[in-house]
Amino acid sequence: MNVISNEDAENRMSQNDTCIYDGEDTKFKIDYESNTYNIYQFLNNHPGGVNYVKPYESKDVAQPMRRYDHSKAAYYLLKEYQQGGRKKDEDDLERLVDWNKPMLSQVGKLGTKYSEWVISPVDRRLRLFDSDLLEYLTITPWYVVPMIWIPIIIYLAVIGTKKYIHITKGCQPANWDAYVLPI
Ligand code: HEM
Repeated sequence: MNVISNEDAENRMSQNDTCIYDGEDTKFKIDYESNTYNIYQFLNNHPGGVNYVKPYESKDVAQPMRRYDHSKAAYYLLKEYQQGGRKKDEDDLERLVDWNKPMLSQVGKLGTKYSEWVISPVDRRLRLFDSDLLEYLTITPWYVVPMIWIPIIIYLAVIGTKKYIHITKGCQPANWDAYVLPI
């Protein structure tokens, strides 16, 4: 369980938790196990919010990251920001696919590695399909979902109600009148 320390709680209360890091510098360096990482690009996407990370600029994050029980995926993502690029010997999962080619045609070849690969986050652009049209369809604005599904739900509800009325017509129990309120 993640327990927020008093020091962290005060930090968060004294800052606006939803604020965006708007430092002018495009570098936000942290250290982890004697390597340096520039996580500037990731700061505003940090699931715990930017304010948890902000106090650790130029500091070692091994201890706070352990304290908040970060997943294996979080440490994997951290490698993405290593100064000088990811270390080649650690890049096994990275090298399984060509990131410049569509993913769909490649994932089949991952075999048993697929389940590990698919939950290891990276911070880079990729495409799923070769076809531009299919690729475009993977990026759906939120309002398209209710636009399509609300009419379908209404249509099915109307059809269902009509059918129900039709099949229950004339099927009232013999003592139906006993259930009808005298108005
Ligand atoms: C510097 C100190 C850091 C602190 C104090 C911190 C704090 C936190 C907290 C409190 C959460 C939980 C959010 C929630 O469940 O609502 C979280 C989640 C997360 N953080 Fe951090 N974080 C730090 C650094 C980092 C770094 C450097 C990375 C990776 C580049 C990272 C990646 C993540 C990810 C991916 C999650 C989602 C949960 C998980 O997969 O573990 N964090 N962090």
